[in-house]
Amino acid sequence: APISVKSVLISESVDPRCRTVLEENGIRVTEKQNMTKDALMAEIRDYDGLVVRSATKVTADVINAADNLKIIGRAGTGVDNVDVVAATRKGIIVMNTPSGNTISAAELTCALLMSLSRQVDLFSEMCLKKKVTFWFFMGAELYGKVLGIVGLGRIGKEVASRMQSFGMRTIGYDPITPPEVSASWGVEQMQLEQLWPQCDYITVHTPLMPSTVGLLNDESFAKCKKGVKVVNCARGGIIDEDALLRALESGQCGGAGLDVFVEEPPKNRPLVDHPNVISCPHLGASTKEAQARCGEDIALQIVDMVKGKNLVGA
Ligand code: MLT
Repeated sequence: APISVKSVLISESVDPRCRTVLEENGIRVTEKQNMTKDALMAEIRDYDGLVVRSATKVTADVINAADNLKIIGRAGTGVDNVDVVAATRKGIIVMNTPSGNTISAAELTCALLMSLSRQVDLFSEMCLKKKVTFWFFMGAELYGKVLGIVGLGRIGKEVASRMQSFGMRTIGYDPITPPEVSASWGVEQMQLEQLWPQCDYITVHTPLMPSTVGLLNDESFAKCKKGVKVVNCARGGIIDEDALLRALESGQCGGAGLDVFVEEPPKNRPLVDHPNVISCPHLGASTKEAQARCGEDIALQIVDMVKGKNLVGA
């Protein structure tokens, strides 16, 4: 049955298309950013809907204070910042926008893979500090190397096609995507045991959940080729940070490109400061295009729900 949503609170910076689409469909929109938890708990009582990106922590306390709330919309993919169990218990629908960020996340992954092969970040910094007069450094081509893609959903697939155009061989693992499907886009699937020792580069594209916490740990690093380079543009903790640091220090891991950390902004200085680590502050989805898509998608999904159409998302 259609659900009545007359008012929506947008509690952080979401693309203006979100507000426009909601208002065009007769929904009243309020934007209030940087609220404290208490302020949010007081404010939320008045609204039927809440739209967030990733800064707003929609905890059980917030949800339980929200007497009229029917829908929580996440303009992005991961719903880690929403207590989905508490929301569901109260009959509140939680929606994400599962595809708006895909290309941006894939492109940043490719940028980190390329940076790792040629140390672009390091040389840029040295040029900036005018330290480079002559520097002997030998990079390596990506051409002909093996890329292991753990997680073959939307983002893993886009990373594969882009890196195939660089001449990389793409192998992968996913517990859901059938091997014949990934084979049709050029990714040979195999069990992780077989995958680790073949990779020159590994990139992870899974959600963070019990089965993916520490997917790369001391044991899996030990099975890898010496000097393997790894990228994480998914969620902090899929690559165990302590194991990664140990592998970087021993040379078992030759470099890491990290957009995400267990704690954000990252407090793990030994990891961030390691000379073979390239760090970004969770920028995978931070492009004009991705934000416009996610803002518009979440608004359209809410409007569809009000009109009684099919639900999309988590
Ligand atoms: C996501 O889950 O969509 C990304 O991590 C980006 C974001 O935080 O919005």
